[in-house]
Amino acid sequence: MSGSRRRLVYEGKAKILYEGPEPGTLIQYFKDDTTAFDATKKATLEGKGVLNNRISEYIMTQLNVIGVPTHFIKRLNMREQLIREVEIIPLEVVVRNVMAGSLAKRFGREEGEQLPRSIVEFYYKDDKLHDPMVSEEHILAFNWATPQDIDDVMSLAIRINDFLTGLFLGAGIRLVDFKIEFGRLWEGDMARIVLADEISPDSCRLWDIETGEKMDKDRFRRDLGNVTEAYQEVARRLGILPEAGNNERKGPVLVQT
Ligand code: TMP
Ligand code: ASP
Repeated sequence: MSGSRRRLVYEGKAKILYEGPEPGTLIQYFKDDTTAFDATKKATLEGKGVLNNRISEYIMTQLNVIGVPTHFIKRLNMREQLIREVEIIPLEVVVRNVMAGSLAKRFGREEGEQLPRSIVEFYYKDDKLHDPMVSEEHILAFNWATPQDIDDVMSLAIRINDFLTGLFLGAGIRLVDFKIEFGRLWEGDMARIVLADEISPDSCRLWDIETGEKMDKDRFRRDLGNVTEAYQEVARRLGILPEAGNNERKGPVLVQT
């Protein structure tokens, strides 16, 4: 495994962080491991890490282009990317467009209803506590973030949602909901809030626009099978995966008449 000689900084369930080549940088390694329900359900999905590395690279690059600051610097190889070291805000920020998952469960609703407006929720990142949902009151009282941080996180989350909704729609995919994390990037004594972690089918709900077929980690959570194949289809539709002999690239084609 590449990276074995580097200093390990942090090992999570699906990723490992190693010390980067320069101060203030880290290497983010994408594992094939996947877990659900606070890691009570586990599996290794061959090739999943490679796909998530590519998909997250693509999305973070596009977000950088529209001026959303992220921790992403560049992809290094099949499983690794160079990122900026940030101070992670201990919140999972969930943005929802369609009724699904824990929201449907909490309110006894059917999955699939378009929400009247996008909903942003915060969860406190702590597996032992099962990532409890929290409000701004808790975030401020326990000093997990400042009022300015929360404002920045909210406006970035909404911009990311608008952008991703359009990006996936162009690939025939409905962006149901997703989870993102943010970090503080220190520049002197000024901190800037940037998007961190990853955006991939592990952290989104993605449904085929025509058939409603699930193309995300719910295939693993709900034992639907063909998990990696679904992630691969997401990558193919986004027009990435050129090494897979992708000669049916989606995207604009110049038609000469
Ligand atoms: P939920 O409906 O289970 O609360 O999930 C909302 C979104 O957040 C969904 O796209 C899956 C994602 N998610 C994670 O990325 N990690 C998690 O630990 C959980 C519970 C959800
Ligand atoms: N990744 C989380 C866990 O391992 C949960 C999930 O995404 O469903 O528990």
